[in-house]
Parts: sequence; C-alpha cells; structure tokens
Amino acid sequence: MTQIQKTKLSNVKKIIMVVSGKGGVGKSTVAAGLALSLARDGHSVGLLDADIFGPSIPTLFNLNDSGRPESVEKNGKTMLVPFNRFGIKLMSIGFFFEQSQPVVWRGPMVTNVLKQLLNDTDWEELDYLIVDTPPGTGDIHITLMQEFVIAGAVVVTTPQKMAHDDVQRAIGMLQDDKIGLPIIGVIENMSWFSPTIHPDEKYFLFGKGGAEFLSKTFDIPLLAQIPMNETIAESCDKGKLQDIFADANIEKAFTTLTEKIVSQPRIFKYIK
Ligand SMILES: Nc1ncnc2c1ncn2[C@@H]1O[C@H](COP(=O)(O)OP(=O)(O)O)[C@@H](O)[C@H]1O
Ligand SMILES: [Mg+2]
Repeated sequence: MTQIQKTKLSNVKKIIMVVSGKGGVGKSTVAAGLALSLARDGHSVGLLDADIFGPSIPTLFNLNDSGRPESVEKNGKTMLVPFNRFGIKLMSIGFFFEQSQPVVWRGPMVTNVLKQLLNDTDWEELDYLIVDTPPGTGDIHITLMQEFVIAGAVVVTTPQKMAHDDVQRAIGMLQDDKIGLPIIGVIENMSWFSPTIHPDEKYFLFGKGGAEFLSKTFDIPLLAQIPMNETIAESCDKGKLQDIFADANIEKAFTTLTEKIVSQPRIFKYIK
C-alpha cells in the first residue's frame, strides 16, 4: 500500500475527533459542549461538523438562518470564514444547505467536501479543533484518519450494554494498525438522570457501568460521565448551547472532561 502523505493543518495545534458507535448518544452535544468548555477555559477553539449527513452544529448554535459563510482571499487562495460564537470558530456542511434538503452523495464527493472544509476554512490559530463525526465507522472517519494529522479521538457512549457492539467496532477502527490514532478516552453521556431542580438525585435510567466496562476492557480512560437532564435537551433544541452550563452537574462534568483532555499525556506522545 502506498503511504498517503498526511496533511497537518499548519495553524491548528491539535485536532480531536469525536466518535460514537451509533447515533443519538449525544455526540454532537458533547462535541459542542467540549468546544465551549475549552473556549471558556481560554483556549482558542474550532468546531467542525463533519457529520455530512446529519449536521447539528447549525441548530446547536442557532445558525440555521445564517446563510453561507463568507469567503476571503488569503495568500492567493479563497478561504471560507467560519462563524464565531462564544469565541468558537464554527464550520459545518449544514451552512451550505437548507435544513430539509437531503444530502445524497457518493463516497468520493463526501470525502472531497470534508477535505475542503478542513483545508479551506480560515481557522487562523487554534489550540484545538474538535471534529464532530457521523455515527459509526465510515468514509468520513477513514479520510480524517488517513489524510490528516489527528491528535486523538474521544469515544462517546451511553451506559446501555446494547450500545457496546457498536462502540467496540468504533474502538477497533481507532486502534487499527495502519490508520489508528491515540484514543484519549471514553465519555459516558446520559449516565443518569438528575433533574436540574433536584440536582442531588440520580436515576440510573439506562443501567450502570457501561463505559466503565469499556474503559477497563480496552484500557482507555473514562474521561467523564455526563448526566442527562431537561436543561441540556431544552437548551440544545432552542439553539442556546451556552445555557447547558446553567446546570451545576452538567458544568461540573464538562469541566472535568476539559481538564482531563487538556492534561492528557496520550495525545502529546504522537504529536511533535
Ligand atoms: N446529557 C443529555 N441530557 C439530555 N438530553 C441530551 C443529553 N445529551 C444529548 N441530549 C439530547 O439527545 C439528542 C441527541 O443528541 P445528539 O448530540 O444530537 O446526538 P448524536 O450527535 O450522537 O446523534 C438531542 O436532542 C440532545 O439535545
Ligand atoms: Mg450528531
């Protein structure tokens, strides 16, 4: 096999992929919450929505009616200007389509669009570029892993045992001999339900110990457990992602996650 020369985005220190076994586990919510938490912590952050078939970033940041990103000429090249919310530079394929428009593309087209969004967005200087990927293991993941220098990946899951087969496939892809990446850790979302008005109560709706089991089995750190509650669901639907931190438990979970990612030794091992 010929080795493909990987692209290192020159002004981006670390790209982190957010991966999950299946959809609906809160991958986009976690990716956006992590980006926001890193930005609040003083890092320069970008968030790329690489979920070409189901982009969520425009909704999460209330940018569905924002129109297309503008472009600028830089060093003789036309670059897309990302939207900026709360200091986060945002780019999504969703900015180029109406919400109801289905995206029906073949593999090569998808990978070309992804590469363009990465290469032709004017990210300026970033400490972290968080990439929200589609569920599962497909062309998007393979293109990212084969063709770009990625610092590491986080795997988002829920506590149910049912989710395990899919997550294990995603971990298998990340640990692949040829295109594998450091797995920074597992994030368990919807670990328990704690209503915002009764923050000390915990209801384990989906069972317990799923992510802990994965963490032990694959020797991957469990980075955080994010509770489920009505504040997250409401804020995200209304495009007010920033409001998720109004709930003390959610804020604490994201702070823990951010601290662990920032101080994570695994991602420095491979990146010069
Ligand atoms: N911890 C949580 N508590 C409550 N609702 C959540 C939580 N995490 C995600 N959600 C909701 O679950 C739905 C799916 O989340 P999303 O991030 O779109 O998942 P994915 O990107 O994995 O498909 C969204 O409506 C989101 O608001
Ligand atoms: Mg999503």
